[in-house]
Amino acid sequence: MSEVAKLELNGQVIELPIITGSENEKAIDISKLRGTTGYVTIDRGFKNTGSCTSAITFLDGEKGILRYRGYPIEQLAEKASFLEVTYLILNGELPTKAQFSEFENEIGKHTLVHEDMKRFFEAYPAKAHPMGVLASMICSMSTFYPESQNPNRDEEAFKLTISRLIAKMPTLAAMVYKNTVRHPFMYPNNELKYVENFMHMTWGMPTEKYNADPVVAKALNKLLILHADHEQNCSAATVRVVGSSQANLYASVSAGISALWGPLHGGANQAVIEMLENIQNDGGDLDKWVAKAKDKSDPFRLMGFGHRVYKNFDPRATIIKKACDDILEKLNINDPILDIAKRLEKVALEDEYFVKRGLYPNVDFYSGIIYKAIGIPTEMFTVMFALGRLPGWIAQWKEMLDNGEPIGRPRQIYTGATERDYIPMEDRK
Ligand code: CMC
Repeated sequence: MSEVAKLELNGQVIELPIITGSENEKAIDISKLRGTTGYVTIDRGFKNTGSCTSAITFLDGEKGILRYRGYPIEQLAEKASFLEVTYLILNGELPTKAQFSEFENEIGKHTLVHEDMKRFFEAYPAKAHPMGVLASMICSMSTFYPESQNPNRDEEAFKLTISRLIAKMPTLAAMVYKNTVRHPFMYPNNELKYVENFMHMTWGMPTEKYNADPVVAKALNKLLILHADHEQNCSAATVRVVGSSQANLYASVSAGISALWGPLHGGANQAVIEMLENIQNDGGDLDKWVAKAKDKSDPFRLMGFGHRVYKNFDPRATIIKKACDDILEKLNINDPILDIAKRLEKVALEDEYFVKRGLYPNVDFYSGIIYKAIGIPTEMFTVMFALGRLPGWIAQWKEMLDNGEPIGRPRQIYTGATERDYIPMEDRK
């Protein structure tokens, strides 16, 4: 007999089916609850609510497990290339050599962005935040490819929309960087691999040949893989909800970029470095900053600590911490910020407040130190996160469409004024 949950409501017993995932995760299916009882559920921040079934990423926050399409993050981060992981996340299987080469060629064909897009950059203020610019540029792609707005186009046309986005995102991200530092834009060089091409467009100059440092390329490849998907996080859920109205891929991903920007999500990587620099400039008294983070009347939180789903450790943070040590050593960089980060981690991990609440360093705690070491400005950090998260957003958007999910539209419990009559302005006190 299939498993059911029983809910007793006003003397009536309602049976609710149980859904079981492939890793034995369980959910109570309440899709018929309102129809049968008139009641809805409330779950602020969706802490207990699954919004969909998904076959892309498996995550066990208690055990610190993260797998894309079944493959452990540790293996992918160590052995795969980011473009290979992109293929895996989008298609469900690792590519064969022939499939990969076809995919690489397809992406290579679309790396150029329309020349008119360059002109947008002239209009942004000099200090425009790169995430605001990136979100706008990605949304603008829908105006250059109006056919992407047709939700009923064929599979090949969908593929083209997706290839264009994967190919142009590094070009646009590099242009955002060049605009920040007021350097000339670089055209893509399609003889280069995905990560090396991004590096060429970011750090290359039209005046000289650029040779990508393999140590930096390896570190970037790893960081992008670690960020590639993370199931129903704030930005992926945003992409799915926006896409559920049949908004086009570029608009949906642009919304995801905006969600990622917030300091409680991807924007934490920028906030971490700013926090560590503040601590350093303030004399490095860690006890003072930890006490501030624990003080409920103080809005300060230890950035880079805590996670909605990881309550033991973030497997991505473990990999990044090691990569951070490696790259600083290989590039012979002695960053005092790293020392503060390590001391802060130790102090917080020994503090009862953090232990009791399961607050551990997350992926953003160490990634900023790597970005800083390889010469990426602090405000660009979240753009790097967005570049990595792109395959996840696309796969989540496509899965939502393929599953025929209905428009995302939550209910509410109204707590405002009850009905009252309109009073003409002249009669109001
Ligand atoms: N510093 C101090 N206290 C914290 C922190 C922190 N960083 N994070 C959570 N807490 C406390 C919080 O005050 C609450 O305490 P209490 O139970 O006494 O009210 C408890 O821990 C649970 O926190 P919550 O806010 O209910 O947990 P959440 O799951 O809603 O929030 C979070 C998760 C990531 C938003 C939060 O931990 C946070 O704000 N962290 C700092 C920002 C950050 O590093 N974000 C990046 C997340 S990883 C990248 C990504 O995937 O987005």
